Amino acid sequence: MAAHGFPLTALFLLCFLGFSHGHIHLSSIPRTLEVTASPKSGQVLKAGVDKISVSWVLNGAAKVGSDLAYKSVKVKLCYAPVSQVDRAWRKTEDDLAKDKTCQFQIVEKPYNPSNKTVQKAEWTVKRDTPTATFFVRAYAFNSAGDEVAYGQTTDEKKGTNLFQVEAISGRHASLDIASACFSAFSVLSLTGFFIAGKRKAKKAAAAEGH
Ligand SMILES: *[C@@H]1O[C@H](CO)[C@@H](O)[C@H](O)[C@H]1NC(C)=O
Repeated sequence: MAAHGFPLTALFLLCFLGFSHGHIHLSSIPRTLEVTASPKSGQVLKAGVDKISVSWVLNGAAKVGSDLAYKSVKVKLCYAPVSQVDRAWRKTEDDLAKDKTCQFQIVEKPYNPSNKTVQKAEWTVKRDTPTATFFVRAYAFNSAGDEVAYGQTTDEKKGTNLFQVEAISGRHASLDIASACFSAFSVLSLTGFFIAGKRKAKKAAAAEGH
């Protein structure tokens, strides 16, 4: 019996290590990326229409060489706390494998530690983005695919510099159709009036000429 004691412990240890591997916690990685996004605080963007420009660079205060392990950067659109209330499917978890804060990828780019130029990307807000309040966060990944650093456009409490996205709703779609029909009708009727008016003028001119 005692002989089985050690392998069992080893097995438990292996399981523990196995489960804990790859479970990176946001609180355990440094905020070394300086991230900016074009939307102004409180701005409302239309899904499927408006664009977001994002940029990221290693923070000037970060230790020299702290980005040597960075291989890629993923920039994401993330729910602000106000849009997470009572919505378990958007819940923030410190364990990034379970975190549902940042569900919309803006861009993924390779990271070159020897290039200290500000990196930029532009993205049109996806049509399926729901109406909510957001901020932008970037994660740096190492060659193993683990998050090793991050940066975001808001403060630690995710309360400042937030913007909104307005979804394309069914109501908006039907309004769009209604206004398109209305414009088509007005163009037609204007053309009709124009032609009728021209004819009348011609007739009048002809009558005067004779
Ligand atoms: C550094 O990054 C900038 C911006 O993405 C890019 O235009 C430039 O070509 C890069 N330079 C090098 C040496 O990779």
